[in-house]
Amino acid sequence: MELNRNDIFRALKTRIIGQPLIEVHDNIDSTNRRAMALARSGAPEGVLILAETQTGGRGRLGRSWHSPAGTGLYFSIVLRPALAGSKMALITLAAGLGAAQGLGGLIGETPGLKWPNDLMMQGRKVAGILTEAELSGSHAPFAVLGLGLNVNLEEKDVPPALAEKAGSLLIATGRTWDRTAVLVALLEGLEASYTALTAGGDRQVLAEYKAACLTIGARVEVDDDGRLVAGVAVGVDDEGRLMVEPDSGEDRLHLSGGEVTLAGPAK
Ligand code: BTN
Repeated sequence: MELNRNDIFRALKTRIIGQPLIEVHDNIDSTNRRAMALARSGAPEGVLILAETQTGGRGRLGRSWHSPAGTGLYFSIVLRPALAGSKMALITLAAGLGAAQGLGGLIGETPGLKWPNDLMMQGRKVAGILTEAELSGSHAPFAVLGLGLNVNLEEKDVPPALAEKAGSLLIATGRTWDRTAVLVALLEGLEASYTALTAGGDRQVLAEYKAACLTIGARVEVDDDGRLVAGVAVGVDDEGRLMVEPDSGEDRLHLSGGEVTLAGPAK
């Protein structure tokens, strides 16, 4: 069934997300690009842009996001967080946490989080989040939070390049899911963690994030400005950066972005 603006609006019990405006596009280049453009021209917090398919879905680290029609959810939300600059990165972690918790409440199994905010089920990525922020001249600073989730993607439709790496709710649970119900669960979860964060609950959000984070305690390989470093992920600091103890005995790294490869549990 196609996503429908009225069905979503009726089912949604949020105070912010989706309340000022919901746009549902059949086909768009990128919901993040559209939301960024609207935010730049003053769109209020909560504007929600959805698409059935994207031709230029953007991922982290300059990657693209595979966005086939009918089987996934692709959406972006305009946020205008009242947060100190040092706490802005926590939005990304709070988003992963909220999405995982919201989803868990619906499907009965809460995805784990690969730092910073990939949702993982059975070792495969089911959802990714791209947060883009801008300090604009005349308006309050804004962030756009974009999420792509593979819902009813079948094994045979996983692109060969992503085989074994990308999963879906269907692959993980063995059943199909109503995308509107999944969307509503995600948005309600996102709103809960976002409002907790902006109301000063960063300690609680971070504590819950750490408990759900699969990366902490694992052996990792990280790209530190083009240099590949092997070590153990030992935690996440108060600004949301991943702390890694390099095997070489060099100083602990605090990573604010970049690629992290899970290389197994720490010995
Ligand atoms: C990642 O894991 O690399 C992040 C992927 C984010 C993809 C979503 S799909 C909806 C929104 N629009 C985009 O262009 N990207 C995000």
